[in-house]
Amino acid sequence: MCIVVLWVFVSLLLVSCDMGFDKMTKVVGYDGKNLCCGYLRCEYRVDPYGIDVLKPRLSWVVGSGQRNQKQTAYHVLVASSREKLSLEKADLWDSGKVVSDETACVIYEGRPLASHVQCYWKVKVWDKDDIGSSWSEPAVWTMGLLNPSGWKAKWIGYNIRESKAFLEKQSELTGSQADEKQNILVLPPPVYLRKEFSLVKPVKRAVVYASSLGLYELHLNGKRIGGDYFTPGWTDYNKRVYYNTYDVTEYLRGENNALGAVIADGWYSGYVGYGQMRDHYGKQTCLLAQLHIEYNDGSSEIVASDHSWKAATGPLEEADFLMGEMYDARKEISGWDKGGFDESGWRRVEVFDDVQAEVQAYPGVTVRKFAEIKPVEITEPKNGHYVFNMGTNFAGWVRLKVNGKKGDKIILRFAERLNPDGTIYTENLRSARATDTYICRGDGEEIWEPRFTFHGFQYVEVAGYPTRPGPKAITGIEITSAAPVVGHFECNDKIANQLYHNICQTQRSNFIDIPTDCPQRDERLGWTGDAQAYIRTACMNNDTQAFFTKWLRDLRDGQRSDGQFPMVAPVKVADNDGGPAWADAGTICPWTTYQVYGDRRVLEESYPSMERFIAFCKDRCQEGLLPPKEFHCFGDWLNINDDTPKEVIYMAYFAYSTKLTAQTAEALGKKEDAKKYYSLFEDIKASFNKAYVQDDGQVHGNSQTAYVLALKCDLLDEPMRSKAAENLVKRIKECNWHLSTGFVGTKDLMLVLADIGRNDLAYRLFHNETFPSWGFSIEHGATSIWERWDGWTPDKGFQDPGMNSFAHYSFGAVGQWMFENIAGIRTDGIGYKKIVIKPYVGGKLSWADTSYNSIHGLIVSNWKIDNDSFKFKVVIPANTTAVVYIPAEDKNNVYEETKPIYKAHGVTLLAEGKGYVVCKVGSGDYQFRSKFLKGGFPK
Ligand code: BGC
Repeated sequence: MCIVVLWVFVSLLLVSCDMGFDKMTKVVGYDGKNLCCGYLRCEYRVDPYGIDVLKPRLSWVVGSGQRNQKQTAYHVLVASSREKLSLEKADLWDSGKVVSDETACVIYEGRPLASHVQCYWKVKVWDKDDIGSSWSEPAVWTMGLLNPSGWKAKWIGYNIRESKAFLEKQSELTGSQADEKQNILVLPPPVYLRKEFSLVKPVKRAVVYASSLGLYELHLNGKRIGGDYFTPGWTDYNKRVYYNTYDVTEYLRGENNALGAVIADGWYSGYVGYGQMRDHYGKQTCLLAQLHIEYNDGSSEIVASDHSWKAATGPLEEADFLMGEMYDARKEISGWDKGGFDESGWRRVEVFDDVQAEVQAYPGVTVRKFAEIKPVEITEPKNGHYVFNMGTNFAGWVRLKVNGKKGDKIILRFAERLNPDGTIYTENLRSARATDTYICRGDGEEIWEPRFTFHGFQYVEVAGYPTRPGPKAITGIEITSAAPVVGHFECNDKIANQLYHNICQTQRSNFIDIPTDCPQRDERLGWTGDAQAYIRTACMNNDTQAFFTKWLRDLRDGQRSDGQFPMVAPVKVADNDGGPAWADAGTICPWTTYQVYGDRRVLEESYPSMERFIAFCKDRCQEGLLPPKEFHCFGDWLNINDDTPKEVIYMAYFAYSTKLTAQTAEALGKKEDAKKYYSLFEDIKASFNKAYVQDDGQVHGNSQTAYVLALKCDLLDEPMRSKAAENLVKRIKECNWHLSTGFVGTKDLMLVLADIGRNDLAYRLFHNETFPSWGFSIEHGATSIWERWDGWTPDKGFQDPGMNSFAHYSFGAVGQWMFENIAGIRTDGIGYKKIVIKPYVGGKLSWADTSYNSIHGLIVSNWKIDNDSFKFKVVIPANTTAVVYIPAEDKNNVYEETKPIYKAHGVTLLAEGKGYVVCKVGSGDYQFRSKFLKGGFPK
């Protein structure tokens, strides 16, 4: 027993460390009791500050070294201070012992929570024999500003665009550098704001709440506050803007405190999207900041943004997402964010009373630094222009280290690929200048990195460096909102491993506050079609619950008054008519979030908008529920010469969204609604069959995607289903056993092949290395997922630079198939409470090491063909059950550890046949072994 416990502990610990979990170790911190609990989260986040959910949901994970362990009861304590909690004085909520196996989304039912309150909490659980665990480690959440009246701060800013300096710069540039991009050369500098204050009494606690129209970076007494970037995130600023909360107690002192901020254009008024357009939401950036100071004697004080603040410009000459950042270190203002500074040259700020947006607590995952990346190669394709290869195509920036003379100007340009002559390929960036410039102070070693821009790149061109730069001259800083990591995939096939790297890399590059299409060119928008195609894969790689909670609000904010969902969210730049497969993100994304995390609230919040959307789709149909004569649809975007009729996509997605709305109604207990939508689904299906399906099972268009959609959306009954399945295989054969699908079809192609019993064919496509395939891009050096199958080909080189990103995640949607079929990890129903482990052994694979850290804990599926036996390690989290499929002829050939499977402890044999021996298990780790199958592995 001891050995088993130790093995679970050590192996989970190793997996956890590998995957970068910080808190996971607590979950498996087996404490000698039968069940322990840890990884406490509130509103899906670890220790969130400043939330505004009045009844937050609490989650934890239980762990055990024993088989078949489960939670039978829990006890939650919430106290207003750490001390009270440690004494078990739960003055906010004492749930008492609650008989329940629930560990996720337990709703807080304690005293009403007021603004600023701190909530320290811990959990105790009871196991199947009613033996209690120790209390978990304490966790915390704090409440933000819950009422608008709590805001004493004013929106303040400085109108830089009418300042003399800016107007002069503008006329200078217009004279000397006017070209077609002239308008983007003149960027307003970010603004520095400051305020000094003194405190007379000892401080107990200080918390700052901050927001901005534009981006802000907060400073207090010479220090940058928090590790977040691009705060307060992207929203439709006409409707809402978020604030972030930071505890700054440790930064304060008695006298001469200074609170400062730098504000830049960002999504609010900088360049966003295509068409060289800026000022999407407004022109005037501004700040809202409020520091709450609680003294030891119980009194309190507020320091807030108001007319008394001062403004100036500084070394930051330009800062723009698409264009880049320019920093002139000669203009640094020493001590601007510290007390005792001479601000005589600074100007008065303006107060803006007309900001309409509702100010709310940030609910998502802020952008943070993820990794530092060292260059792998430096070349000099052009005299004095050094090209650094960072080894992987990521999103972020570089930290520059230089020892130069005063005024030396170093120019950094970013690109995803190289031209044949080794120079950087930037045509595909379109109008994104993607250039950072640093001008040296000239007083020794200088280290600089930007804060208000990012680029998508693998290569950096460095020009103007005073000497020949070595590898330490630049360090890549990767940023993302894709955190924490929850998936792990590794197998014996190098290309498959590179593909998994590329998927995760591209997800990180595009989860920048919202899910975007690409991180490099002048686009970077929250394309709805891309998000819906990729969301299910996204959930296997990172915990996306808070991230999508935030974006689903953006999406609902963008819904048109007639019910149509937009092309992009937050809606701006692109049109608000999403069209089939794009607009459907409004049903697919909430449902997926529910399916993966069991989050009912997301369904409750989304359901009214789902209903409006279905009504919109239905109302615009022609007689007989057929698509309208005219409608916008992107089609099966970027397919390979295999277009799918738009009406087929329309009907398939209309049916699918209707079904998801029916399922949502059912989950919410709205029986009548569910009936109504299921019946609408049947009507759409009938109409689809009548209009688009022939007797031989041919679906209108006869494209791979047409079959994929008909099968995936459950639009065919037998015998049509089998016939359509055959037709799909025929179409793949006609394409010389290659896929031809675009964004819409690729999402489901592999899953449909698995469903129709053709995983052998799925493996064939998976392993293809010739065009078009995932392997093709990897053969040609891809370190991320390309937007198009033909982004680069040996015959044609780079495709149309007008649309050729090398970091688009849509085709990475194959990740779901990899986890569900190679790893074989699936949820049976909602939220991985019941798990299915059913690996399909095939293709070139002889082993796979995989895991998924679900809402209920870590699931592991590791298998290996070892001579004539199949070794299969499975770990199932406490408080869940799993049905495990072991590839084997019959039960006599299967062992768990040393025992025949039918005698193994905690294992119930369910069935045998069709190439698998099937058993049911509870929590625990299992080492199965079976004899190699005579007839090969099941398809
Ligand atoms: C974006 C896509 C998006 C598409 C719409 C492109 O410009 O990059 O990913 O879905 O437009 O078809």
